[in-house]
Amino acid sequence: MRILSGIQPSGTLHLGNYFGMMKPSIELQEQGEAHYFIADLHALTTVHDAAALRANVRELAVDFLACGLDPARAVFFRQSDVPAVTELSWILSTVTPMGLLERCHSFKDKTARGLAASHGLFAYPVLMAADILICDSDLVPVGRDQKQHLEVTRDIAVKMNETFGEIFKLPQPSIRDETAVVPGLDGAKMSKSYNNTIEIFAPEAVLRKKIMGIKTDSTPVESPKPTEGAVILDLYKLVASPADYQSMLDAFRNGGTGYGDLKKQLFAGIWEYFAPFRVRREEILADTGLVDRVLADGAGKAREVSDRVMKRVRAAVGIGER
Ligand code: ADP
Ligand code: TRP
Repeated sequence: MRILSGIQPSGTLHLGNYFGMMKPSIELQEQGEAHYFIADLHALTTVHDAAALRANVRELAVDFLACGLDPARAVFFRQSDVPAVTELSWILSTVTPMGLLERCHSFKDKTARGLAASHGLFAYPVLMAADILICDSDLVPVGRDQKQHLEVTRDIAVKMNETFGEIFKLPQPSIRDETAVVPGLDGAKMSKSYNNTIEIFAPEAVLRKKIMGIKTDSTPVESPKPTEGAVILDLYKLVASPADYQSMLDAFRNGGTGYGDLKKQLFAGIWEYFAPFRVRREEILADTGLVDRVLADGAGKAREVSDRVMKRVRAAVGIGER
């Protein structure tokens, strides 16, 4: 089974990215042939600063390795190191109905937030379909917000197969219910676009300040607190042991503990959860050349797979040598 996922180097890693995409991907690397990549071509739809993009790619590579991506098990590469993905994207775009892309939420959301409505932003799901199909992927671990892009990918694969004969298998999304949508500081989906993120590698003081800033209601200390949609509780569940989670749940239900104290417990839980990752991150940073070696090795392996698939594609559509 081939497992594939990508993440854009367009900002600093937050709890939503980690629990929605990274942790499931890392756990799945034991269960098949995993391919994980840094989607720098996708990031070009929003980042137009060469130095910033390069820095983001490096930082994300370090973070992904620190979180447990094991290059001995998973192929880890940069999207732009597999240039055939843009060729496949073009081929796919010739069978992709405009209406399919016009229905995509992410384009509508991003332009509504003021991003320029570029062709790249519009065609983004086609490039994502190419990422997935060029690796013959079976399973794609992502957060819920990417579900529609997986549906588009399947639609495009079906259309290609109908038009040119069986070229592609149909990939399945893997979306975990419990972490499908990690809430941010304000209770909305955690996202760098909403300015409500908690960065997993933030320095201690910054992290504490962020967590103390989680929006809460005005329930008095002594009263029971609403548990439904409580950000503190929902985030704590992700990092705490079942017993610790239960005791925070009891504190909510029984009253007598103020939000300030509950936030302190949450901070401690998050800080502790990521402690081993911080240690690993320092080790990776100290090993100069490690990231370059891993990405170069990954690029070679990813190109082997994509070369095979592209041979099939070119033959089926009638381009390239016979
Ligand atoms: P952002 O919304 O901050 O821009 P991205 O769109 O770059 O995040 O998401 C990268 C990956 O992290 C995707 O697989 C996405 O589904 C996942 N992800 C992002 N935010 C969340 C969240 N709040 N809950 C669950 N998964 C998330
Ligand atoms: N669009 C994804 C995101 O914003 C990133 C991505 C690009 C991706 N190509 C992919 C995810 C292929 C899974 C598979 O998070």
